[in-house]
Amino acid sequence: MDLNGKKILLGITGGIAAYKSCELLRLLQKKGAQVRVAMTEEATRFVAPLTFASLSKCPVYLKDGAVEARPFQHIDFPRWADLYLVVPCTANAIGKFAYGLADDPVSLCFMSCTCPRLLAPAMNVAMYNSPAVQRNLETLRSFENTYVLESPAGELACGEVGSGRLLEPADIVSFIEGGSLPLASASAPATPSPRGAAPKTPAAPLASEALPEQDPSLPGHGRRVLITAGRTEEAIDPVRYISNRSSGKTAVALASVFLANGYSVEVVAGPMEAEFPGGATVHRVRSACDMHQAVMERLSQVQALVHCAAVADYRPKVAAAEKIKDSRSQLVLELVPNPNILRDSVAAKMPGQVVVGFALETDHFEKHALEKLEKSGADALLLNAPVAKDSGFGFDCVNYTLVTPNSQVPELRMGSKVELSEAIVDFVNRKLEESRG
Ligand SMILES: Cc1cc2nc3c(=O)[nH]c(=O)nc-3n(C[C@H](O)[C@H](O)[C@H](O)COP(=O)(O)O)c2cc1C
Repeated sequence: MDLNGKKILLGITGGIAAYKSCELLRLLQKKGAQVRVAMTEEATRFVAPLTFASLSKCPVYLKDGAVEARPFQHIDFPRWADLYLVVPCTANAIGKFAYGLADDPVSLCFMSCTCPRLLAPAMNVAMYNSPAVQRNLETLRSFENTYVLESPAGELACGEVGSGRLLEPADIVSFIEGGSLPLASASAPATPSPRGAAPKTPAAPLASEALPEQDPSLPGHGRRVLITAGRTEEAIDPVRYISNRSSGKTAVALASVFLANGYSVEVVAGPMEAEFPGGATVHRVRSACDMHQAVMERLSQVQALVHCAAVADYRPKVAAAEKIKDSRSQLVLELVPNPNILRDSVAAKMPGQVVVGFALETDHFEKHALEKLEKSGADALLLNAPVAKDSGFGFDCVNYTLVTPNSQVPELRMGSKVELSEAIVDFVNRKLEESRG
């Protein structure tokens, strides 16, 4: 879609990412679009309206703006526009749009515009994943002419990591240019889509390519997988913990391969360095007990579960409430076993679900993997043996093989974590097809 000559109304709501709308505005102008701005009162606390008025060379539509001089801005602005962008779109605004509330310039424009509406949510991961926001987004996706952009995972302004980031301004522009929005030609009124043919979420920056998750020919279409990732931290006291060296790289490769196969991907992740691709929904936890609870809560919603996290087998029996003082005398930590997430999820497994575990062994690989497979009852175990130099923790390659019940253990092979992930995803695809019958 050529933006040259397009009239774009930019609604800005009160999120920390509001400063990115300045860049977006400039990018749209560079493409030849004319931009006008509407702001909520809260948004004006983040960036001054004067900035947008100066950049757009047009008065900003504000709640307490020159209402007497321009009494019908809430109708004139949306009527003028070929496209209404709300960037960033807060949880609050999403709720208002979904429920038909219109008490500020941005929600008024949303209600009164007939052109396509494109929303870019941005918020903290817990807010983004909250049932209310997810329900409201679902409602908005069912509205005619309304598109909701993906909010990729990554580091958020609040310091947490997870879904809820604002899509980068350049990606928003690419999305619009990608052409899946039914933009009217400059200044002609937009044609509303026919009833019942409401556009669904394009949920990806590149609109010209079908999202893998939406491609019905892919094996994971309509299927959901849960992956555990990273390591766990078992508190000794408020500042110390027991953990391990898992970097989370394998889980990130797995999430990417599952996404590319069309699955919806949810992750329960302990601490880790590697970052997940946009498109995966990430729930953060710290200890093995937290991870156990998060997995068991989500188990019934998925078709496949892959236990990739390096979960501590033991935790201190008591985590001291205060920092343990250095007395220079011997200190004995009493450890108790953590819940066995793999075993408990297999016990709770529903017919047709596939569960894959991981076994990291440093000796007697086959024997230990077969024992673990049998004890756990999992459908398969990915045996990995980080024994070679420059492989395993923190590296991109590892020695691995997939062990399945009643068959010989294939030889360990050195491969990338992506190849390892492909072996798992192929296995899950096959098992799910078999169980479909
Ligand atoms: C520093 C700060 C940052 C905020 N960032 C966000 C955010 O990124 N996303 C969001 O949905 N709400 C965020 N909020 C909360 C909104 O500002 C609040 O819900 C507000 O009522 C939204 O008003 P609006 O309708 O103008 O968007 C933030 C609040 C503060 C104080």
